[in-house]
Amino acid sequence: MGFPQQRLQRLRRTEGLRCLVRQARVSPDQLIMPLFVCHGKRVRRPIASLPGIEQRSVDFVGTEARELERLGVGGVMLFGVPSRKDALGTGAYARDGVVQQGIRAIKTAAPSLTVVADVCLCEYTSHGHCGVLDGQQVDNDATLELLGRTAASQAKVGADMVAPSAMMDGQVQAIRRALDAAGCSHTPVLSYSTKHASSLYGPFREAAGSTPRFGDRTAYQMDPANSDEALREVALDIEEGADIVMVKPALTSLDLIHRIKARFDVPVAAYQVSGEYAMLRAAGRLGWLDEIRAMRETLVAIRRAGADCIVTYWAKTFAEQL
Ligand code: PBG
Ligand code: ZN
Repeated sequence: MGFPQQRLQRLRRTEGLRCLVRQARVSPDQLIMPLFVCHGKRVRRPIASLPGIEQRSVDFVGTEARELERLGVGGVMLFGVPSRKDALGTGAYARDGVVQQGIRAIKTAAPSLTVVADVCLCEYTSHGHCGVLDGQQVDNDATLELLGRTAASQAKVGADMVAPSAMMDGQVQAIRRALDAAGCSHTPVLSYSTKHASSLYGPFREAAGSTPRFGDRTAYQMDPANSDEALREVALDIEEGADIVMVKPALTSLDLIHRIKARFDVPVAAYQVSGEYAMLRAAGRLGWLDEIRAMRETLVAIRRAGADCIVTYWAKTFAEQL
């Protein structure tokens, strides 16, 4: 039976009807807001390529967290902007490192807000790579211990979850072991399992001051052309103990989100990265599109593809717009 008995427009006629049959939905408690925490007091530094996003000192990160908690946002993802960097990225696992201070401040200001800590070295290394170097190459195995230390130090000061993003082989296993050894066996690992080497991280690198001083990340981040490899990354991460697996960027990887969700029975996260946000904000500023509608449309598409939760710079705006 086809047209004219079948008319798919019937269920599109009113918002009430559309609402009844709507499949994918986005709610603010599924969204995680990235925050950039820096040293100092009463510091708020806007980031030119990320309108509305700022580097905030520890005290102001607490204030912002309280607001996000009030708005019902699902959580925050913390990145550090340290004032000093070195070859070994020691700021990442320092007991009083900037992220460690930020975690404490947020837990005090907004105790029920879920705090996820990004685990990587690139914000803390003088060369800007995600691991320690051996000559001009990143030394995967030597980096693992430092990532483990970083995660344990974050969990110890109250991070609810840790999120390794360095794309080092074996990082989930190293971090799981370090957490367990530190008495944090309850702390879940959200692994950036499928992280492409992407141009869309540009604005983030301005925000986090983490642009590599030489070369790029193509020797450790995934080739955006590959999808079978994404499934292998995910399978290995689950074996190593990942509790949630993440795909990024989101909009260029909807097929991967879908395949991963179909194949594995673990929660899947997606990271709508800085460049994805910046593109919409830029076009919105120029009056070329309605950025609020574009925000809703992209987020619901990521949910429709199969993501359970989404890390997005829109998290606060989305919650405010409800
Ligand atoms: C660092 C890291 C990056 C992002 C998250 N963690 C950048 C990179 O790999 O260079 C990207 C996030 C974004 O663009 O919003 N390991
Ligand atoms: Zn990194």
